[in-house]
Amino acid sequence: MPLPDWHPEKWQYYEHTRVKHILLDKYLRGWTRILGGFYEKICYFDCFAGRGEYKIDNKTEVGSPIIALRLAKEMEKNYNKFLMIFIEKDPQNFESLKRKLEEEGWDENKIEVYISNKSFSEEIGRLIETLEKAKANPYPSFFFIDPFGFSDVPSELIGKILSYKRTEIFFTFMVRDINRFLSSKKHEDALNKLYWNDDWKKALKEKNRELALVKLYDKQLKELGGAKYTLLFRVCMDQIRRTAYYLIHASNHFKAFKLMKDIAYKQSGGRFGFFGPLENVAPLLSFSDYTDELKKYLLEKFSGEVQMMELMEKCYIETPYIQPHIWKTLKVLMKDGKIKIEGLGPRGGYREDATVIFP
Ligand SMILES: C[S@@+](CC[C@H](N)C(=O)[O-])C[C@H]1O[C@@H](n2cnc3c(N)ncnc32)[C@H](O)[C@@H]1O
Repeated sequence: MPLPDWHPEKWQYYEHTRVKHILLDKYLRGWTRILGGFYEKICYFDCFAGRGEYKIDNKTEVGSPIIALRLAKEMEKNYNKFLMIFIEKDPQNFESLKRKLEEEGWDENKIEVYISNKSFSEEIGRLIETLEKAKANPYPSFFFIDPFGFSDVPSELIGKILSYKRTEIFFTFMVRDINRFLSSKKHEDALNKLYWNDDWKKALKEKNRELALVKLYDKQLKELGGAKYTLLFRVCMDQIRRTAYYLIHASNHFKAFKLMKDIAYKQSGGRFGFFGPLENVAPLLSFSDYTDELKKYLLEKFSGEVQMMELMEKCYIETPYIQPHIWKTLKVLMKDGKIKIEGLGPRGGYREDATVIFP
């Protein structure tokens, strides 16, 4: 019998949970800083919100709702209003979450909190329907989708969320469990709903089923779910190098993708994953490790005048690198007389609106 969702064993804090929370915290801070001032409201949806607290040895660690609430409280100057929606289906977890949130407290003039004891699909489905009826243009909205398993995350709803402007999702894709139940008749319906069709069955014939399942979801998210950008981050168990889940960030705005890629790169030394604390983390790449490859890529890929952000976008999608690597390489190419850059900042600094001129 599977353990119920309130069971203490399900609320042990692992290193991989910490990694997930670090990415969430760092991203939400950047997102709030970038968007908060531009809109009347920004919205955080914690769709599988949890109890608000984990146990580790004799101590406790806070869960995602408290992480989000604390950063909203800390960053009050960076936004006008912050709407926080917490959805938690399990009654015991819901009660614990409510208590934890109340203990934290918040300024109601700045932060609006709504806690729901319904299921993700029910609650979000209803909210989306209301928005559609009102034909409202939604505020920037970040959806953290963090289930224990893979049921109740229908692709239809993911597509709906992403069909709005300025929405994005951060999804714990439980590929280990999906793989485990791939041949189970009982889970077929849940899998058909999770994916946009039954193409997942093809993974049964693959050698690396896990990777095939993640790649298929990523492909469908883009082709059928309407996500323009996705970033995958592999998360292994604490003690062995076995995948626990992938964190998938999906968005429709380059700056959102860039922010998540920058954070994920720095967090993992460029490996876009957590491989367990027993393994030494590779040092950050040194300049000589990437510059030749990037020089070649840039000179082959571009010609004539290219806007800096267009160049960045291509590099972010097609290479594993981030802005510091790209900018350093551009400076070398400029010094060597291979390219010119117009519209640089004072003392030749980087500017988003600069133009790079290739041969
Ligand atoms: C992995 S935990 C969430 C952890 C939390 N996001 C955090 O990082 O602190 C998943 C939670 O989803 C709840 N849950 C299960 N099915 C749900 C559903 N259909 N809708 C909303 N919540 C659900 C479980 O009770 C559990 O508390």
